[in-house]
Amino acid sequence: MKLIAPSILSADFTRLGEEIRAIEAAGADWVHVDVMDGHFVPNITMGPLIVEAVRRSTKLPVDVHLMIENPERYIHDFVKAGADLVSVHLETGVHLNRTLELIRSCGARPGVVLNPATPLNGMEWVLEFVDFVLLMSVNPGFGGQSFIPNTLEKTRRLKQMINDIHPSVLIQIDGGVNLSTIADISGAGADVFVAGSAVFGSSDYAKTISEMKQKAGPSER
Ligand code: DX5
Ligand code: ZN
Repeated sequence: MKLIAPSILSADFTRLGEEIRAIEAAGADWVHVDVMDGHFVPNITMGPLIVEAVRRSTKLPVDVHLMIENPERYIHDFVKAGADLVSVHLETGVHLNRTLELIRSCGARPGVVLNPATPLNGMEWVLEFVDFVLLMSVNPGFGGQSFIPNTLEKTRRLKQMINDIHPSVLIQIDGGVNLSTIADISGAGADVFVAGSAVFGSSDYAKTISEMKQKAGPSER
């Protein structure tokens, strides 16, 4: 099966623990936490304190997506708070290897994230140091935006690059993933699907997640 990672950005924060237990019971695979600093993206969301609360609410892997400048300053705090996977944007720094190494040495699985306009060749030489590549299929900052269609071609090219260089790396897609878009995204080669509004905006999380998995189809890995 391919993996579904609901983004708590669209959860009801007055009942965060309950929401996380509900997606776990509904068949979610990872819990995606969107960290925004108001500098790298035009929105401010949550920090290690929330990650620590998420950690206490679930046994699922906690997947922390850092949309922040100078991510290297905060890696230790997020892993200590309970992050199992930490992804950093390629656009945030020139010493990406060092940051990815830091994530691994702190005990989490590193991922690199690319904005929609960022070319794939920027991460060719870090592919062997990551466990996953996250392609943004919207410009990061907000939930509920529409999927940018050329992400499909970008995903196909990334899949090719991964097959050639380091086949165990997973492809994660984030932004505008829903019941209408997931089949094509999966067909292009994605393995992990972040979904905020599509899951938390639905009335039956279990039904939505199982329909998403059905449309994504089996994993070829
Ligand atoms: C966007 C965030 C996403 C967002 C996805 O900046 O990184 O994770 O929550 O939201 P949906 O699934 O509603 O597009
Ligand atoms: Zn995200």
